[in-house]
Amino acid sequence: MKILVTGGAGFMGSHLTDELIKAGKEVVVLDDLSGGFRDNVNPNAKFIEGSIIDYGLVKKLFEEEKFNYVFHLAAYAAEGLSHFIRRFNYKNNLIGSINLINESIKNNIECFVFTSSIAVYGANQLPMKEETLPLPEDPYGIAKLAVEQDLKAAKHMFGLDYIIFRPHNAYGEKQNIGDKYRNVVGIFMNQIMQNKPLTIFGDGKQTRAFSYIGDIAPIIAKSIKVKKAYNEIFNIGADTPYEVNYLAETVKKHMNSPNHEMTYLKARDEVVDAYSAHDKVKKILGYKTTVNLEQGIQKMAEWAKAVGPRKSKGYDNIEIMKNMPPSWLQALKEND
Ligand SMILES: NC(=O)c1ccc[n+]([C@@H]2O[C@H](COP(=O)([O-])OP(=O)(O)OC[C@H]3O[C@@H](n4cnc5c(N)ncnc54)[C@H](O)[C@@H]3O)[C@@H](O)[C@H]2O)c1
Repeated sequence: MKILVTGGAGFMGSHLTDELIKAGKEVVVLDDLSGGFRDNVNPNAKFIEGSIIDYGLVKKLFEEEKFNYVFHLAAYAAEGLSHFIRRFNYKNNLIGSINLINESIKNNIECFVFTSSIAVYGANQLPMKEETLPLPEDPYGIAKLAVEQDLKAAKHMFGLDYIIFRPHNAYGEKQNIGDKYRNVVGIFMNQIMQNKPLTIFGDGKQTRAFSYIGDIAPIIAKSIKVKKAYNEIFNIGADTPYEVNYLAETVKKHMNSPNHEMTYLKARDEVVDAYSAHDKVKKILGYKTTVNLEQGIQKMAEWAKAVGPRKSKGYDNIEIMKNMPPSWLQALKEND
C-alpha cells in the first residue's frame, strides 16, 4: 500500500508519517520545506522536495508512484497572518489542494484525508460541533472550508472518498518554533531560549484547548482503515480550554525559567474562546486525550531544550500592511 503525505516534513505530517511507517506502509512525502524541516522526515519515507502548487510535478508524481491513499497536510497554517497574505493563502492552501484532488480523482485514490481546521467555524459557536454551520472569518478558514466543500462535490461527482479532520492548537516535538506568526507554545519556548520576554496579545485571558500531537497523529493514521469514517468530518484534539496566561506559566516552569518576563501587546482581532466537541471522533475513531497540558508541555520543552532556539523566519511576502498588529509591523521593519 503506497501513501502520499503532503507536508510530511512539517509538524503534524512528520508524526503522521512516523505512524504510517510504524504500521508497515510505504510513504512518499511531498514538502517544499517552506515551513518544515528535512530532519523531521522519517528516514524510511521517500522524500520529494517540491510544491503542491507545481501542478506538473503533482501530476507526474501521481502517475509514477500509483498511490492508494493521500493524506494532505501541506499548508501555510498561519491563521492570523492570512488576512495580510490573502493571495498567497488561497494559492497555496486552496489551489494547491485542488491540484491534489484533481489527480486523486483521475488516479482513483481510495481515500483522500484532509486536515482542515476549527478555523472553519468562526467566532461564538461554542462548543464547535461538526454539524454547526461553518462561518469562517479569515482567509485561512475560508480556504479550508472551500477545500472541504470541494471534496464533497468530488465525492458526489466522481466518487472520491474523503475523511476531513478539523484539528486545533496542536503542539509537541518537531513543531516549527521559529515562526513568529503561529504556534504559540513554540513561540514562547523560542522566546525563553533567546532570552526575550514572552509576548502575549491582549490580556492573555483568551482560551484554547491545546492538544498534544501524540494523541492526534495515530488517530489520523488509522482513519483510512475505518469505513465508518469515510466521507465524514471530525473535530480532533483535547477537550479542556486553558487561558494563554496559564499556558505561559506552564511553559516557563518546564523551560526552567519560572520568573521569565512577559509583555502584553495590543489585542489581535481573533476569537477569544475556542473549544470544540469531540464526541464523534471518540465514538468512531476511539480518540482519547492521554497526555494532559502539563505532561505535553514537559515533553515538548525537553525536545526544545535539546534542539535549541531557532531564528524567527521572516515571512517577507506580506501583501497588505493595513491593520497589521503593530508588533508584527515592527518586527518586519527590523527584519526580525
Ligand atoms: N497545528 C495545528 O494546530 C493545526 C490545527 C488545525 C489545522 N492544522 C492543519 O494541519 C496541517 C499541518 O499543520 P502543521 O501544524 O503540521 O504545520 P507545519 O507548517 O509544521 O506543516 C506544514 C508543512 O507543509 C509544507 N508546505 C507548505 N506549503 C507547501 C506547498 N505549497 N507544497 C508542499 N509543502 C508545503 C511546509 O513546508 C510544512 O512542512 C496544515 O494543513 C494545517 O492547516 C494544523
